[in-house]
Amino acid sequence: MTTHMLTVRDARLAVHTRGTGIPCVLLHGFPLDHSMWREQEPLAEHLRLIVPDLRGFGGSAGAVMESVESLADDVPALLDALHVGGPAVICGLSMGGYVAQHVAVRHPDRVAALVLVDTKLEADTPEARAARADLAVKVGRLGQGIVADAMVPRLLAPAAAAAPGRAAIEDVLRSAILAQPIAGIQAALAALAARPDMTEPMAHVLAPTLLVCGAEDAITPPDCLERAEQVMPCARLLVVPGAGHMTPLEAPEVFNRALLEFLQHPPGVGLPGLAGRD
Ligand code: MLT
Repeated sequence: MTTHMLTVRDARLAVHTRGTGIPCVLLHGFPLDHSMWREQEPLAEHLRLIVPDLRGFGGSAGAVMESVESLADDVPALLDALHVGGPAVICGLSMGGYVAQHVAVRHPDRVAALVLVDTKLEADTPEARAARADLAVKVGRLGQGIVADAMVPRLLAPAAAAAPGRAAIEDVLRSAILAQPIAGIQAALAALAARPDMTEPMAHVLAPTLLVCGAEDAITPPDCLERAEQVMPCARLLVVPGAGHMTPLEAPEVFNRALLEFLQHPPGVGLPGLAGRD
């Protein structure tokens, strides 16, 4: 990947790119950075991958995340900074999926297709908000290790605990979490707790949408995206056996193939430019 430091609205953001073709923005989950999309690099043979570090994370750690909506407003601005004038495929996992939903609602002209992965439309429950506030205090006192300890076991499918490659995936996730600044983690926890319920707005999104969920996702289980499929007019759901909350890392071949097949044959309108490619 090539790393660019771009001026995006009021911030300097790190954006990683590779490949040519239809632009495809990959938005990472919490509290990670672009490295969680490492298994999607082969997609650069077909797509122009655009993989930002969201505000407060990775190479964008100098910027402060204020809200999920403001992260969504960064997406058209970073496309402009890369001279991508038209719409792009917007793909986000979990927190990135929350951001992608707001891009679809706030900037529909920049969305050629939407891919929502291991995420949900609903806002936090009061219990989830309280847990985030608690974690924000603990990370301030004890450091990022407490977040890694709390999250890494829940991110991956329990059934695959002994699978080959599992330790390497855990290492990728743990290293990414430990590398994130405490202030960025705390700001994101507050922004995630404050995010609105998107069920009603997403019912009006007409972009062709692929919903992907690991069958063993313990954080946003498949019924979250089953509900999304029911309300979204142009959505198709794929549940991936054996994967947890990190489907693109846990089942990369299945995920990458599903993404390309969806772009070749999206529900609703077609996407000229990818049709006919393998
Ligand atoms: C994520 O993976 O981005 C987070 O688990 C999202 C969340 O905490 O809601």
